[in-house]
Order: sequence, then C-alpha cells, then structure tokens
Amino acid sequence: MSQVKIRDFKNIVFFTGAGMSAESGVPTYRGKGGIWKEYNYEEYACQAAFDSNPEKVWEFHNKRREMVAKCAPNEGHRLLAQLEKELDNVTIVTQNIDGFHQKAGAQKVFELHGSLWKIRDDKEGILAETFDAPFTAFKRETGTYWRPHIVWFGDMLHADVVEGAVQAIQNCDLLVSIGTSGVVYPAAGFPDLAKKNGATLVEINPQETAVSHLYDITLRGPATQMLPTLL
Ligand code: OAD
Repeated sequence: MSQVKIRDFKNIVFFTGAGMSAESGVPTYRGKGGIWKEYNYEEYACQAAFDSNPEKVWEFHNKRREMVAKCAPNEGHRLLAQLEKELDNVTIVTQNIDGFHQKAGAQKVFELHGSLWKIRDDKEGILAETFDAPFTAFKRETGTYWRPHIVWFGDMLHADVVEGAVQAIQNCDLLVSIGTSGVVYPAAGFPDLAKKNGATLVEINPQETAVSHLYDITLRGPATQMLPTLL
C-alpha cells in the first residue's frame, strides 16, 4: 500500500514505457525476450537501414504490427484512461508505439517515439494512419516508400510532441513512471526534469532501474498490480 494517492495531486503525468504493455503480451525491448536481443536495431530501426533496404525494415515492422494487433490494452491502460476522464489534469507521456493508451480510451497522450500505426512520406511531406497488419502497400505509385512514423535510433524526437510533453512534465506535481528502464534519452531525462520542478516521483517497475535513485517512492511489481495502490 503506497502513501501517495493520485487524487491528492493537481497535475499528474504518467510516463510510460514498454513494461506498461508487458502484461498485454507485447515484448519489451531489453531484458529476457526483449526485441533488441533478437533484432539488431542497425538493420531494422534506423534511417540508414531503411534507406538501404526499405522492404526488410517493413518486414520487421509488419511483424511488430501483426504481433501488437493480436494483443489488447490491459487493466493498467484502462485505469489511466479512466483517471484521465475523471480528473482535470492528467497527461500521459509514453515511449510506446503500440497505441494502447488511446485504444483504452485516453485522449491526452504524447507519443514521444511515434506510432506503429502512422506512416509518412518524407519526400512528399505527408503523414497517414493505417491499422493494416501487415501493411503491404508500402511502395507508393510515385516510386517512393512510406516510412514508419517511428523515432528510430539516431532520429530527433518530434519538436511539437516534445514541447507538449515537457510543458506537462514541468507543470506536474506528481510523475508516475511505469515500466521503463530509463536508459533511452532524451525521454529518460524527463523524471529528473519533473523532480527539479518540485514534483513527487513514483516508479512502478518489478526491477530496479538506472534511475531508481531519483524516485521518492518505488513500487516493485507489475503495473496492473501496483497502479491500484495509488488510488
Ligand atoms: P525497456 O525494454 O528498456 O524496459 C522495460 C521496463 O519495463 C524494464 O525496466 C522492465 O523491468 C519493466 N517491466 C517489465 N514488465 C513490467 C510490468 N508488468 N510492469 C511494469 N514494468 C515492467 O523499454 P523502454 O524503457 O520503454 O524506443 O525503452 C525505451 C525505448 O527504447 C523504447 O521506446 C524504444 C527502445 O529502443 C524506440 O524504439 C524508439
């Protein structure tokens, strides 16, 4: 049982990572069974890989689309969506690309690393959304390729998304991190930013992380079991 209660705070940010969707059956990136244990990101998740072999990169992303399409948001996603509806100032800042927060009903979601379901054509400057799993029409009639609208290794985060997320984080008095290893920057620096602005910090994660020392409260357990203790 945690002494921190969500309703005692005015501006709340939930900062989520792959562990948030682990109980939905979506693999995390690091640790046992992690995506980057099986796939070398240099071949599948960076602009250079896409430029040299877009079809191979799409094959990987289509596997991910198909896998996520078989899973569904869990009780944790639903609880955050419910709190967002019920309370005035709840913001979700996520590193996840699976879209599960929105699928559970949340609306104020900043997707720092983009979305598995969005595609763009940089040459033509267009962005689209498709839930096809797999998405096979990646080669366009114009001869260019749709590119997954995902922040790959070496990419900059999208400025408008970062701006919204940073504003929410600077203004929050409670930040709850859920299921992130805290090693991928700049996102990993966000809890520290909240702390410097006086927020109370809670970490939900079954394991200790690289940034656990920053947190006022650490709840060691899976998201769906730990989140209700904050109510
Ligand atoms: P990681 O795979 O690095 O970390 C997942 C964290 O979730 C670990 O600390 C686990 O201990 C924890 N975890 C596992 N099961 C959990 C559960 N049921 N409840 C709560 N926590 C649980 O994933 P991220 O930190 O999200 O970027 O990784 C950050 C970024 O690295 C990702 O957004 C991705 C990746 O490269 C891109 O692809 C751009």
